[in-house]
This record gives sequence, structure tokens and C-alpha cells, in this order.
Amino acid sequence: MTVDLGTGDGRAVLRAARAEPDRLAIGVDANAASMRASAHHAERRGTLPNALFVVSAVESLPDDLAAAADRVTVTFPWGSLLRGLAEPHGPILDGIRRISAPGAAVDVMWSVVPRDGVPGVNDPSTVAEAFRLSGLEVRDVHVATIEEIEEAHSSWAKRLQAGRERPAYRLRASRPASPDGPKA
Ligand SMILES: C[S@@+](CC[C@H](N)C(=O)[O-])C[C@H]1O[C@@H](n2cnc3c(N)ncnc32)[C@H](O)[C@@H]1O
Repeated sequence: MTVDLGTGDGRAVLRAARAEPDRLAIGVDANAASMRASAHHAERRGTLPNALFVVSAVESLPDDLAAAADRVTVTFPWGSLLRGLAEPHGPILDGIRRISAPGAAVDVMWSVVPRDGVPGVNDPSTVAEAFRLSGLEVRDVHVATIEEIEEAHSSWAKRLQAGRERPAYRLRASRPASPDGPKA
């Protein structure tokens, strides 16, 4: 199953559920209202039974999601979800790790400029180090290309003109298959 944290309007979840009907796609957001239209769309006459939406802060994800996801995405977050990407063993990175099954892929894209006032995430290598310290193996971190941003189908990236008007970054990681975590 794929879990999209901070899913916002949930359109990326609908798209993923449509593209892979045999796979569960779950959107999580602290703001129920933002997901309402997509949740209704998925439910209407059972159009997309494999799309689900969960109202929850990433800081307090339900136990039902523990080690359940083999793919976790976070696209263009804001607020505590964005800040938490640079906090080793903070509630956001611990939440991501907790819902990831051993071997799960974690794919994060974000965009930030100094005037956003979220200094920790300005430097992609600081974010990568926070992931490592939180027990996630970082595969790569780089400036996201326009093609990668478009493939994420993020409504917020479109609004921000991410990759055009402002830089965007992508980090790919995985939860180690061994319960002991990554080797030091
Ligand atoms: C800018 S929107 C991005 C939405 C979507 N991923 C996209 O790319 O269009 C960020 C979303 O993250 C959610 N969010 C921020 N902090 C959160 C947290 N700690 N837990 C859950 N959701 C959070 C907000 O409610 C908001 O809907």
C-alpha cells in the first residue's frame, strides 16, 4: 500500500488508485476539509474502492498503519510536516519510519526559500542527515527536475510554480529491511 502524508486535496491519491487498481492508496492529512471532495469522489458508487483518506496528524498516526506501507510519499508539505523533515527522531520522521514496512520506499519532495522561515529544510543535506539519524537509509537527494515535479501531480507544486519560480528538492530513502536499522 502507498500512504501519502499531508495529501492536501488528495488528487494524487485518486490518480494513484486509478493507475493501480490492485493497490491500496491512502491519503493522510490533519485537515479533513481539504480531502473531502476526493473522498466523496472515491466513495461515489464505489468508483475507487482502493482509495482511502485518513484524518490524522503525522505526529499521531493510527496504530493500524504501523509497518503497513511499502511506499510512503510526502509531496510539497508545509507547516509542521515541512519543518519535521529536518528534525532527527522528531515526531514526523519517527511517524514516517513507523508506518513504513521493512524495505519500504520513502519519496519526499519539498520546496523552500529563505523567506519561508523554515531554515532547517533549506539545505537538502541537513534533511538527508536527519533521515539517516532517524533510521532511514537515504538513496539520493537532489534538486528535483521539472519532469519529476510534474510526475508527482502535486496541486501545491503547481501553485508554487515549484522548480520554476523556486527550487524544489527530492529525497528518496528506504526503511532498512533489517530490524537493526542501517549500518553506521
Ligand atoms: C501545501 S499542502 C500540500 C498538499 C499536497 N501534498 C500537494 O502536493 O498538493 C500541505 C498539506 O500538509 C498538511 N499538513 C501539514 N502539517 C501536517 C501534519 N503535521 N500532519 C498532517 N498533515 C499536515 C496540511 O494540512 C496541508 O494539507
